[in-house]
Amino acid sequence: MNRIAVYPGAFDPATKGHEDIINRSLHFVDRLIVAVAENTTKTSLFSLQERIELLNEIVGDDDRVEIRPFHGLLADFAHEMGAAIVVRGLRAVSDFEYEFQMALMNRKLRDDLETVFLVPARHLTFLSSSIVREVASLGGDVADLVHPTVLRALEGKFG
Ligand code: PNS
Repeated sequence: MNRIAVYPGAFDPATKGHEDIINRSLHFVDRLIVAVAENTTKTSLFSLQERIELLNEIVGDDDRVEIRPFHGLLADFAHEMGAAIVVRGLRAVSDFEYEFQMALMNRKLRDDLETVFLVPARHLTFLSSSIVREVASLGGDVADLVHPTVLRALEGKFG
């Protein structure tokens, strides 16, 4: 069986929380497409190309994982990729409303697409890209929250 899933997000930048979800997904999928959103409602710190490069560094040469940009509807992208599963990380109750809405909308758009929520490691549940960006921009230490390559990229942005 070739079970394909997409793991979509802005990944601006990818954190250890994202890494954790990628690794957990690989316990039950054969191929994981990390789908990096080209257009998000938020202004991004890292360009699409930078976000993809950082994820490629994180994933290394694991050929079960592929990093791809996407634009437009996630449901259409998943269909094009032959994926039947959307993976999302669920950290807290505060994530739930938005995630539930998104999962139901994606199901309305493509009835054969299942959203699977994964709970990250407990020590990463407070983590988000936005909090990493904020702390790094103010000179705080985020070394244990991101991959060393991401840390260097943040240092490059904020000095
Ligand atoms: O990292 P994020 O901000 O939680 O990612 C959100 C993302 C990019 C996965 C979501 O906004 C998305 O799927 N956008 C694509 C447009 C789309 O399909 N919208 C309908 C589903 S609500």
